[in-house]
Amino acid sequence: MEIIKMESISKLYKSGQIQVEALKNVSFTIKEKEFVSIMGPSGSGKSTLLNVIGCLDQATSGTYELSGTLVDKLSDSKMSEVRNLFIGFVFQNFHLLPRMNALKNVEIPLIYRGMNAKMRRELAEIALEQVGLKDRMHHLPSQMSGGQQQRVAIARALVGNPSIILADEPTGALDTKTGDLIMELFIDLNQKKSMTIVQVTHEEEIAEYGSRIIRLLDGEIVSDESSGGKVNV
Ligand SMILES: Nc1ncnc2c1ncn2[C@@H]1O[C@H](COP(=O)(O)OP(=O)(O)OP(=O)(O)O)[C@@H](O)[C@H]1O
Ligand SMILES: [Mg+2]
Repeated sequence: MEIIKMESISKLYKSGQIQVEALKNVSFTIKEKEFVSIMGPSGSGKSTLLNVIGCLDQATSGTYELSGTLVDKLSDSKMSEVRNLFIGFVFQNFHLLPRMNALKNVEIPLIYRGMNAKMRRELAEIALEQVGLKDRMHHLPSQMSGGQQQRVAIARALVGNPSIILADEPTGALDTKTGDLIMELFIDLNQKKSMTIVQVTHEEEIAEYGSRIIRLLDGEIVSDESSGGKVNV
């Protein structure tokens, strides 16, 4: 079953006289439970593509179907709703709120869903346990290592049980060993929780955790192949 279906997606950024075509007629599909890595040089459109997939941004033209919903026709508020229900985000620099402890950070997506405090707390604890951080629940981001902060961010991404995890350079700010740990977590979410994962990375080693690698150049897909794969799927 296809969960992401993009047809001739283009994204034009206009600032004053300057126009940048960040995505040019990009077409591809991603099936449920795939683990896909997106690679390409700086400025090739990777983050733009991930933001369109994640309903953080809309394409200028083309059609995008997410889980059977035509996203390019949706209003902003409907886009946020779809995003909150279907997508979990992980960023290079974690994007945690500095004044909130791990638990509160993980609860955020559930607040947007209008869930009551008790239920939020329960689900946040379970998510933190899943990433091995039950003993750090009450720590602030500043009291945690980079790898631990990224695990909190992953707990926040998975707490609402989304169908898709989108990650933009999730290991970019981490050392190799910690990066591998984060990838093990992704493999786990992919295989045990059947979450579809799409990650952007500069590192070949990290890309190979995915079973498929899409390469971008100047806003176009230049290759789309199954990877050797680090782990048997
Ligand atoms: N908000 C914006 N306004 C104008 N141009 C933008 C905007 N965001 C991105 N661009 C341009 O679109 C192109 C693609 O940018 P994008 O951020 O998707 O690249 P990237 O592949 O993620 O690069 P990096 O590896 O450096 O993160 C670049 O040329 C960039 O300058
Ligand atoms: Mg980027």
